[in-house]
Amino acid sequence: MHHFAYRNGRLHAEGVDIETIVAAVGTPVYIYSSATFERHYTVFRDAMPAGSHVFYAMKANANLGVLATLARIGAGADTVSEGEIRKAMAAGIPADRIVFSGVGKTEAELSHAVSVGVYQINIESEGELEALSRVATRLGRTQNAVFRVNPDIGAGGHAKITTGSDANKFGISFSEAERLYAKGSNLPGIRIKGLALHIGSQILEFESMGEAFAKVRGLVERLRAEGHPVERLDLGGGVGVPYKMQPPFDYGPDVIHRYAAMIRSVLAGLDIELGFEPGRVIAANAGILVARALYVNKRTDRQFLVVDAAMNDLVRPAMYEAYHEIWPVREAGPDTPTATYDVVGPICETGDTFTTERRLPVIHPGDLIAFKSAGAYGATMASTYNQRLLVPEVLVRGDKFAVTRPRQSYDDLIGQDRLAAWQS
Ligand code: LLP
Repeated sequence: MHHFAYRNGRLHAEGVDIETIVAAVGTPVYIYSSATFERHYTVFRDAMPAGSHVFYAMKANANLGVLATLARIGAGADTVSEGEIRKAMAAGIPADRIVFSGVGKTEAELSHAVSVGVYQINIESEGELEALSRVATRLGRTQNAVFRVNPDIGAGGHAKITTGSDANKFGISFSEAERLYAKGSNLPGIRIKGLALHIGSQILEFESMGEAFAKVRGLVERLRAEGHPVERLDLGGGVGVPYKMQPPFDYGPDVIHRYAAMIRSVLAGLDIELGFEPGRVIAANAGILVARALYVNKRTDRQFLVVDAAMNDLVRPAMYEAYHEIWPVREAGPDTPTATYDVVGPICETGDTFTTERRLPVIHPGDLIAFKSAGAYGATMASTYNQRLLVPEVLVRGDKFAVTRPRQSYDDLIGQDRLAAWQS
């Protein structure tokens, strides 16, 4: 369920006409719906067992306005860098609702996380276990932590977003878990509270995940039998979204409820505090990327629709062959003719292609189009490749909108570089 819909033939985000935003801000532009973020978060939270903690995976969308929207309704944050910890806190998410994960945390980052007092650090290797103990001891603190285990069961919508197999870099190996748990429990500066796992992203069928969770449940039971009071289990993120938005639009909540039912069945009777790190399911359908059509370049057997957004603004199609629906901002009527397009951006790479051979209502130069489901892993993965400016982000709430990240300026872009001393 999302809040982007046509009203009187014009695409709106909640109560705001997309063309009003474009007139004020230009294109390309990311537009987010507060109501959609709130709804997805609330549906997710309410579907999980009582007492669960929800740490929104802010790598999906880290706009300050978005984070503040979620902070206000009680969300925690799953972070993977010092930058994310700082931004979460700047948006009003307190440290005691922040989890710090990631395979390569530096000692400086661990030190920052321990100093601000994050809720939990997810340890991913023996070296990191030792580093955390050193850092926390030096600071005179005791840090709560869990081990991220690799269940050797992967899942996910694409090989590049599968994380749970032994061939992936994430987590400690299952065969090492008991030894490291015992070792961690005896190290100073750390209190080992439990386990974490995350096996992949864009998951819509939950068999493999259920298998992985069952495997971790077995590990919890073994550790408890060895005398460790395993109190927490962080189940990661991974719940997918329907990128092809055929009705019913409520497929989203349906996926969340199937996920919750799997968890209740696999973990029944375990008596453990659960944590979740959802990113995509909260953010994807809460945002669109609006672009303007520039040219239609015709060939004998195809035509390219060249738009002003590119792979530097939304890299998912180029990187994961991802599908994003494309909607004209002016609604196509039943009589609008259609045509087949390769939709491409201006970047000097063939990979700068949003889609090939897509049947769309006829689009003319100057028309606006919206890439749907761009709220997750859109703006956060943007770059300035080809020296293109980072695009603005706009947050809508009801009939109001605010630019929560202005378009980068050419001064910002060029002024960050410096000449070497011998060149000036
Ligand atoms: N927790 C951990 C440890 C993760 O690695 C991830 C995502 C999440 C939570 C959130 O997963 P989600 O609920 O969003 O599936 N850029 C890719 C997705 C990369 C996901 C990386 N890890 C994409 O655009 O599809």
